[in-house]
Amino acid sequence: MGESWVNSAERIGADLHLELSGPGGRRAALIRALREAVRSGRLAAGTRLPPYRSLAADLGVARNTVADAYAELVAEGWLTARQGSGTRVADRATLRGTARVPKKTPARARGPRHDLRQGTPDASAFPRAAWLASYRRALHQAPNEVFGPGDPAGRRELREALTEYLARARGVRTDPDRVVVCSGFAHALRLLFGPGGHGGGGGQGGHGGQGGQGGTGAVLRGPLAVEAYGLGFHRELLTAAGVRTVPLPLDGDGARVDLLERERAVLLTPAHQFPTGGPLHATRRAAVIDWARARGAVVLEDDYDGEFRYDRRPVGAVQGLDPERVIHIGSVSKSLTPALRLGWMVLPERYVDGVLAAKGEREAWVSVLDQLTLADFLTSGSYDRHVRRMRQRYRARRDRLVAALAEHAPHVEVTGIAAGLHAVLRLPPGTERSTVKAAAWRGIALDGLSAFRHPGTDTPAGDGLVVGYATPPEHAFGAALEALCGVLPPDDRPAT
Ligand SMILES: Cc1ncc(COP(=O)(O)O)c(C=O)c1O
Repeated sequence: MGESWVNSAERIGADLHLELSGPGGRRAALIRALREAVRSGRLAAGTRLPPYRSLAADLGVARNTVADAYAELVAEGWLTARQGSGTRVADRATLRGTARVPKKTPARARGPRHDLRQGTPDASAFPRAAWLASYRRALHQAPNEVFGPGDPAGRRELREALTEYLARARGVRTDPDRVVVCSGFAHALRLLFGPGGHGGGGGQGGHGGQGGQGGTGAVLRGPLAVEAYGLGFHRELLTAAGVRTVPLPLDGDGARVDLLERERAVLLTPAHQFPTGGPLHATRRAAVIDWARARGAVVLEDDYDGEFRYDRRPVGAVQGLDPERVIHIGSVSKSLTPALRLGWMVLPERYVDGVLAAKGEREAWVSVLDQLTLADFLTSGSYDRHVRRMRQRYRARRDRLVAALAEHAPHVEVTGIAAGLHAVLRLPPGTERSTVKAAAWRGIALDGLSAFRHPGTDTPAGDGLVVGYATPPEHAFGAALEALCGVLPPDDRPAT
C-alpha cells in the first residue's frame, strides 16, 4: 500500500507546500520549487524531506521524478542524503548564494544575561509533571459537552474548586455562582471597565454618570482611585478605556484610603502593595470598606501574589470583610505561570450579570481544558504542594538577597521583603537612573522604582530598584545576585 501524505508530513514535522510551475517539465519545476524553498529559509537546515513515494503521491508526479529532483539537489549541495536518516536540507545550503541570512538577534530579544525584572515566577520551576497528570485526568473524565462551546462564567468544576481554595487559603467568602473565570487581572480590568457590560450605560451594576469616565455600557465607571505606585500597563489599559485614575499617596501603612473622596471605585493591592511591598494596615482595610459602604462604591482587590508570605501571618483578603463591596481578582500568573492566562474574579452579586455580558455568549478567552486542569490541580492538592515548594525556594532567595546586601552594600536598605516575589532596594537620592543604566550595561535587567509612579503623584517614594528575585532559574540566581551587588552605588554617607 502506498504511504499517505499525512504520514510523510508527520515525518518532516510539517506540511510541505510546493508549487510546480514554469518551463522545463515536472522535474525541473520540482527542483526549482525545492531550491527556492531552501534558499528563502522556508525549509530550514536539517529539515527532513518527505519520502519519494509520499511527495510523489501528493504532487501527482512519478516517484522517479522526485528521486531525480532530490538527487540533483544533493549533487548541487542543497540537500544531503544519508542512509537511515533520509534526505535533509543541508546545513550550509541556507547560507549559499542569495540565501536569506538570519538577522543577528539583538541582545534584548535574546534576553538579558541576568533577569531580575519583577513580574514572573521562576519559569524553570513550572510543575510540568503534576500539571500533565492533572491534564490527563481532566481529559479522561471530561464529559463530551466539554468539547462544545464553553460557559462564559467558566467551568463549574473550576469555580467550585476556586471557591473552596480561596475560602481556605485567602479568607474569601463566596459561592461558585459569583466566581467568573477570566484570563488574568488585565482581562478582569477590561471586563469591568470596557464596553459591553451593560448595553446603553445603565443597568444594575453601572453607576450611571457622565461620558469620559469609562466605556459605554461598562460594568464600572471612573474616576478610579489607584495607588500612587502601580503597574503602568494597568494604568494605560484603564486610560484606553476612558477611565480617569486618581493617585492615592502611600505611607508606611499602605494607601492613604482616608483621602478617598468622590471616586466610584478604588483599586488596591492590600496583601502586598505593588511594588513598594507593605500590606495595607488593618485600620485602613476597615476604613476602605466603610468608605465603600457610605458612598455606594466598590473596592477592587488585586490579590496578585497573596500566596507568597514569608515572615508574618498570612494577610487574608479584604473581600472577606464585605463580599458585597469588594471585587476580588486573582490569577495563576505568579503562583504557576503568566503563560497560562488563567484568572478569576469573585464578584458582588450585582455585578455578575454585567461581567458575564461583557465576556460574551460563550467562553472566548480561557481554554476549557486548561480550566478543568486547574480544577484538578487544585482539588488534588498539587496547587498547595507547588505553592509551598515555591514559597520555600523564594524565601531562601530572598534571604540570600538580604545577606548579600548586608555584606556588600549595607547602606542599601531592602524593603517589601515579607511577601511576594520582588523586593525594593532603597538607593541614595539621585542615583536610581545611573544605577539602572549601569545594570543594563552589565546585562542585568531590572526596573527603577520611579518607573511605577503614577503621573502627578506629589509624594514620590524616593530612588529605588525593584528586584524580581524569583525570575532567574535556580542555577543562575547566585550570578545574578553577584552582578547586582556590583552595580549598586557606593556608600557616600559621611563616616561617623
Ligand atoms: C500588580 C500586578 N497585578 C496583577 C498581576 C497579574 O496580572 P495577570 O493576571 O494579568 O497576568 C501582576 C503580574 O505581574 C502584577 O504585577
